[in-house]
Parts: sequence; structure tokens; C-alpha cells
Amino acid sequence: MPKTFYITTPIYYPSAKPHMGHAYSSIIADFFARFKRIDGFDVQFLTGTDEHGLKIQRSAEKQNIEPLEFCNQISKTFRDLSQTLNLTNTDFIRTTEDRHKKTVQHLWKELEKNDDIYLSKYSGWYSVSDEAFYNEDEIEDIDGIKRSISSKSTVEWIEEESYFFRLSKWEKPLLKYYETHPNFIAPESKKNEVISFVKSGLKDLSVSRKSFSWGIKVPSNNDHVIYVWLDALTNYISALNYPNTDDVLFKNFWPASIHLIGKDILRFHAVYWPAFLLAAKIELPLRVYGHGWILSGDEKMSKSKGNILDPIEIIDQYGLDPLRYYLIKEVSFGNDGNISQERLEDCINSDLANNFGNLCQRVTAFAIKNCDGKIPSEIKFQDDDLLILNKFKNNLDNIRSKIDCQNINFYIDYIINSLFEANKYFNDQEPWKKKDDLTRLNTIVYTTLEIVRKISFLLYPIIPESSLKALKIFDIEENKIELHTITNNEYLTKGNNLNKIEILFKKIEKNND
Ligand code: ME8
Ligand code: MG
Repeated sequence: MPKTFYITTPIYYPSAKPHMGHAYSSIIADFFARFKRIDGFDVQFLTGTDEHGLKIQRSAEKQNIEPLEFCNQISKTFRDLSQTLNLTNTDFIRTTEDRHKKTVQHLWKELEKNDDIYLSKYSGWYSVSDEAFYNEDEIEDIDGIKRSISSKSTVEWIEEESYFFRLSKWEKPLLKYYETHPNFIAPESKKNEVISFVKSGLKDLSVSRKSFSWGIKVPSNNDHVIYVWLDALTNYISALNYPNTDDVLFKNFWPASIHLIGKDILRFHAVYWPAFLLAAKIELPLRVYGHGWILSGDEKMSKSKGNILDPIEIIDQYGLDPLRYYLIKEVSFGNDGNISQERLEDCINSDLANNFGNLCQRVTAFAIKNCDGKIPSEIKFQDDDLLILNKFKNNLDNIRSKIDCQNINFYIDYIINSLFEANKYFNDQEPWKKKDDLTRLNTIVYTTLEIVRKISFLLYPIIPESSLKALKIFDIEENKIELHTITNNEYLTKGNNLNKIEILFKKIEKNND
């Protein structure tokens, strides 16, 4: 049985084109998907767009376009962005697809069958921007405008007939579940917030709307459309062909290994979604990770605030891999982070061009000149060489377990340290002074090349294109990147030709005025 891994991003609202926050979640998810793939897992990686609800209906109305036509246009910009970001998603789901609607209606019927749904009347506050209901104590009044305290979005009063989900019934089972599955919610600080929210008491949840029509119809009552979050969350299983539980996708990939989301939507994923699943007797995902926000100044970057940075513009200016590297490194994973072009340029110059790019160029240029352009054959490792080489072997299990708890900060620090040590090793060993001891010269070159290979493997999930460019030195192709081989200190075939490679990263001229 192959080991399997299923990772999802949120499905984004196509109410406006994607911004850096969306790019961030998707890039992080791609990082995990690629890491697991090179570690031998069969990976399913899902992203997509969340197309129903009042927010989308109103955005379409503003532009005088039919909602579906509006969604077709903007969903495409998200799909295109997946390509631009070099994501390895295996599927892209749209909630307007039939495969999804069928699953949602089936799930609804299951909930009804289990007596988890009843008809009543809702009155309360609703934020269209968040597609969320808020209690009185979650609202503040600023200059006569009522807003959600947590998201700052404006709320409106709604009163209408609505179906309710018996969320209150699941309060105790949820608390029990959090207790028996301490890894279910991450990071730890967010987990405590969720638990205290549930402990403070869960009210039944309004799960249908009657006053507009842009949504999936309630099967037994076509006057109602299903609440957009019940609809949206179901994407994670409709993409696996649920309710066909014999389907290979569902069998191999459910429960999901991780739902990667922003902390803004943790409540939906860590409270509502598991409650729906418990009620429908479906297994729960293994983990929900609510990452921090990319800020613009002190505020969350978001389309409704109009303070967005367009990922495409940054990519056009600097290239994709620098952006991927920067987002993964600089926004300390789990926390909020500010991004700036200044820091992005520093990353390119110091980490990518100086530390990585330079190492690759230096050792290949030296080998081409002094080792006949080949991977040296006559080698004899000494302690110094084995010390640096064996660090990879000794750390592999640690790296794996750090990744399994989403400790990206460890991973990137590990790579930066390894690069620093590799450059130092090459300098300290001074192969250029060993021309009368060819075995030593060859061994230093071989060792350094091995390190370049190992680090390029580790960099592949972060900067795939540049890693592959570096691996051209050895003619190593993508399907040969296998993580476990970083334990092998003599992986490179002796006597094979080395290829000269183009400059990996161009340094940015900075004017320091
Ligand atoms: O909430 N920093 O969609 P959405 C980091 N459709 N990540 C950010 C971000 C920022 N400033 N802004 C957005 C929805 N994101 C629902 C989800 S899932 C079943 C339905 C990322 O378009 C982050 O992952 O508002 C956040 O959770 C998501 O985009 C919200 O995207
Ligand atoms: Mg949002």
C-alpha cells in the first residue's frame, strides 16, 4: 500500500481576482504536497473556488452579469494563478460543478435523515462579506455602523424562515474529540481559542436561506438554498466522489491529512465542519491548520479593504521562485507577517544568489576546470567530509517529523544553515591549493557536489524550478528527486559529465539612498 497524503487549500471566493493572501496559502500547500511526493507519498492536492452565496450574487449584480458568467470569469483567474504559481494541485474544484452539487445535496439528506436539521426562523446579524452569522456580543457599533469585532466587516439584520443544523447537540462530542485528538487543531494558540468558543456554548446554526437564490437548493424544499459554508466545506469530499465511498479517491485519501487555511476561517473548519461530519457519520480530517495573515501595514490584506498586493506583478518583476522562497521564509509560519519589496530583494541577494546560486556556480566551474568536467572518481573521504555529509543522514527523520507538525521555520533554517556550512566547507578546504594531491582535491569537489545535490533536493518543494535548474548539473530530472537519497553520500555517479548551468538568480541592484 503506498502511503497517501491529502492536502487542501480553502476554496477561494471568486468575488474579485486573487491577491497575495491567496497565493500564500496555495504556495504553502504546494510546499507540503511536493515534500510529501518526494518522500514517496501518493499525494492529492485540492484547491478551487467557492462560488455560491449572497456575496457572489451581489458582486455579479454590481457588474450586471449573471452570477455563473461572473464566476466563470473570475474562477479562471484563480485557476490561471495555480499555473503561474507552479502548483502541483491534482484537482481544481468549483462549487458550481454538478459533481459538487450532488454531494452537497446528499450530505444534506444524510443530516436530515439523522434528525440534525429542522425548520424554524432565524433572526440575527449576518455579514455578507464573511458569509457568517454573528452573536450580539460579537458585534460592535462604530459611528452608527455595526461591524463584526473579529473581521471588521459590516453586518446586516436578517429575519427569515430557515433550516437549522443542531450544532448544540455536538458541543460535547466536539470537546471530547479535541481532547482525544490533540493534533486536530493547529497552531496551539488557535486551538485554545476554538476550544473556549465551543465551551462558551454552541447555538444551532442556520443552514439555509430563502431571500436569495444563488446557491444549491435544499432537496426537499426548493424555496431554500443551502448555506454557503455547508456547501463550500463539502468540497473536500465532493472532490473525492463522496458519497461513493468505494471510489478509490475517497478510499485512499479520506480523511484528509490536512486542511490548510487562514486563521480567519478556523471556526468554520474546526467547529462546523467536524460537527457536520460527525452528524453524517463521516470520519474527520486529521488536522486543520489556521495560518497567520499577510498584513499590509497593520491590517490583514484583503480585497474588501482594498490594500492588496498583486502576486502577478511581483512575479513579473522578480520571478516566481524568489516570491515562493520569500513567502515561505519571511512570514514565520503560524504568525502574521508583513511583506516588503526591500526584504524580498534581500532574500534574493543573500540567500538565493549568494548562498545557493554562488555555491552551485563555484563548485561546477572549479570541477569543470580541474576535474576534467566530470564527477570525480578517485575519492577518499576524511572526517571533515563525512561530518558535513552525514548531517543530512542524521537529520532526515527529524526533518520529516518537523514537516509533519508543519514546522516550516525549522525546515528553512535547516537549509540556510546547510548552505552556510557548505560554503564554509568549500572555502576552508581550499581545493585550489590541493593541485598536488588530486585525491584530496577530487574528494572535496565530490563532497561539495553531493551537498549541492542534497540541498537542491531539499529546496525542491520551495523553489522547484530553480532546484531543477541546479540539478541539471548532474542531469537529475524531477522524477529522480527522492528524499531518502539524501542519506546516500555516494549517490552521484563517478565519472559522469558535469553540466555548466546558467546563473540561477540575478542579484538585484539596490540603491541605498
Ligand atoms: O474564506 N493572509 O474565501 P476567501 C494570508 N470561500 N492568507 C490570506 C489572506 C491574507 N491576508 N487573505 C486571504 C473564503 N487569505 C471561503 C473559504 S473553504 C471551504 C471556503 C487566504 O476568498 C487564507 O487561506 O475569503 C484565507 O483563509 C483564505 O484566503 C480566504 O479566502
Ligand atoms: Mg475572506
